[in-house]
Amino acid sequence: MTPQLIDPFARAVTYLRVSVTDRCDFRCVYCMSENMTFLPKKELLTLEELERMCTTFIGLGVEKLRITGGEPLVRKGIMTFFQSMTRHLDSGALKELTLTTNGSQLERFAGDLYAAGVRRVNVSLDTLDEEKFARVTRWGRLAQVLRGIDAAQAAGLRIKINAVALKDFNEDELFTLTEWCAARDIDLTFIEVMPMGDLGNEDRVGQYWSLNDVRRQLAETYTLIDLAERTGGPARYVRLEESGQKIGFITPLSHNFCESCNRVRMTCTGELYMCLGQEDMADLRPALREHPDDDAPLIAAIHKAIGLKPKGHDFDYSRQRPDGQVSRHMSHTGG
Ligand code: 5AD
Ligand code: SF4
Repeated sequence: MTPQLIDPFARAVTYLRVSVTDRCDFRCVYCMSENMTFLPKKELLTLEELERMCTTFIGLGVEKLRITGGEPLVRKGIMTFFQSMTRHLDSGALKELTLTTNGSQLERFAGDLYAAGVRRVNVSLDTLDEEKFARVTRWGRLAQVLRGIDAAQAAGLRIKINAVALKDFNEDELFTLTEWCAARDIDLTFIEVMPMGDLGNEDRVGQYWSLNDVRRQLAETYTLIDLAERTGGPARYVRLEESGQKIGFITPLSHNFCESCNRVRMTCTGELYMCLGQEDMADLRPALREHPDDDAPLIAAIHKAIGLKPKGHDFDYSRQRPDGQVSRHMSHTGG
């Protein structure tokens, strides 16, 4: 399939990230407030609408689909949606179907995900300490997530851990996490905390732990080999010569990666965000809902939206306050 979604800066959009729910069974401190108000169900795209939306994007050249949330696996009936994407993997139009999860429901769903054609899963896990895990997720239980990871590996899914780098929280676990992942043949990526949403009194700037510093600390023990591999997003990778493992760094704040951006994000209500760091969005739901038997209006709305994809984002921590902050939560746009 030749890409058909080309933005004004000649970038082909081939990667769609879709949030299928804004709900989650955790309340991570950097992501949600304690008392979240979630969207009423009628606002969400139905599973059938999600299927039609994704199928339309795939018809326009999207070849990688990542399902996110909130926590995607708490959406009722979500396996039906994954199963509805299998035919696109079989036809070769879709190259990869994947998800980002907190791992809490993996024990239950790992086998079904593999059967639907999922081969890789990103699991968010910031700490291996039970007490700290309970503190950062507020509602989560570490043991449940670890059982989920075991189940996923047993089912044949390749795991990547995403750990948000948090000052005075998991700094002391850099090597524990790295070694734990090496022992289990799990990839590991560190993420800089991003200024998303209104988290009340939580001091995001104070939580920021620069990945330059993570890198420097790793380099004191390991030999880091820079890998050329890029995914069109904010991740960079190194290989640790001693263990052979791959470590990623996602630094949306300190690196400019926009020129290679190949992705857009859809919320669970059908809003398409063309850039993680900007408020520009296009609501695709009317074109979808008002024309149940005609894809042309939806296709036109998608083309129009891609035509508005901005050149880049505008995060800036340099003045020690989260400038360029966007008011929506990660759980709304998807990580
Ligand atoms: N900054 C960085 N990462 C975040 N995530 C959620 N909120 C933030 C934030 N403010 C991460 C989760 C998960 C992914 C979906 O996004 O930890 O890895
Ligand atoms: Fe849930 Fe992920 Fe947000 Fe944590 S970071 S509350 S697991 S959506």
